[in-house]
Amino acid sequence: MMEKRGQLLGIGVGPGDPELLTLKALRLLKAAPVVAYFVAKGKRGNAFGIIEPHLDDAQIRLPLVYPVTTEALEPPLSYEAIIADFYDTASAVIGGHLEAGRDVAVVCEGDPFFYGSYMYLHDRLADRFPVEVVPGVCSMLGGAAVLRTPLVYRNQSLSVLSGVMSEDELRGKLAQTDAAVIMKLGRNFAKVRRVLDELGLADRALYVERATMANQRIVPLAEVDPMASPYFSLLVVPGRKWRG
Ligand SMILES: C[S@@+](CC[C@H](N)C(=O)[O-])C[C@H]1O[C@@H](n2cnc3c(N)ncnc32)[C@H](O)[C@@H]1O
Repeated sequence: MMEKRGQLLGIGVGPGDPELLTLKALRLLKAAPVVAYFVAKGKRGNAFGIIEPHLDDAQIRLPLVYPVTTEALEPPLSYEAIIADFYDTASAVIGGHLEAGRDVAVVCEGDPFFYGSYMYLHDRLADRFPVEVVPGVCSMLGGAAVLRTPLVYRNQSLSVLSGVMSEDELRGKLAQTDAAVIMKLGRNFAKVRRVLDELGLADRALYVERATMANQRIVPLAEVDPMASPYFSLLVVPGRKWRG
């Protein structure tokens, strides 16, 4: 008789405030024999920090340590090749647990399907194993809440943009949308700021670091250090107010 295979669980843990973990995420996490989490070398893992107090000693912790983050690599090293290899290996390890009948919960900051690293495991494993994905409060909604700004009124459109885009692309997309959230700022902040200034959007834009976390900072745009925008930061350009 074939062994029952384990289930892959993609669990969104929200943007940082531990109280934004859903009841469903908590229930599934507590029951999972293996809990996997992404983490940068030498770090504790942000998503893991949110859920660790809920785990017991018997649960297997499976850190998935990124081999590279955003550092510049000299050819022939390529970020894409190294990271694809990493996801292949991580999927194989998780696949081993699933084959052995153990459920694996992969925790993910915010929502797993919203720029989450979980997606790369999902794409490799979802056609071979049973899967459940638990949505989480994503950072842009956590950000809008702590910035106390409604995002879009009535028929307005919202664009979610990555600060990694070229200046031209950012300009084109921002010029066409009613409201925007710009993620992945980091070293891209100065470029994003220039485009906002050009389009006359800087006065409307709001900036937050580590939204909903204990060390959250809301900083006026003019005071953001363009060289020191942390990884967990985003910008919101809210839609124009509609007085309903
Ligand atoms: C790889 S994406 C992950 C997004 C995540 N899955 C989500 O649902 O929000 C990482 C980017 O999300 C944004 N981010 C995530 N958490 C954040 C937070 N608490 N405050 C501000 N930005 C955050 C930052 O722009 C960061 O560069």
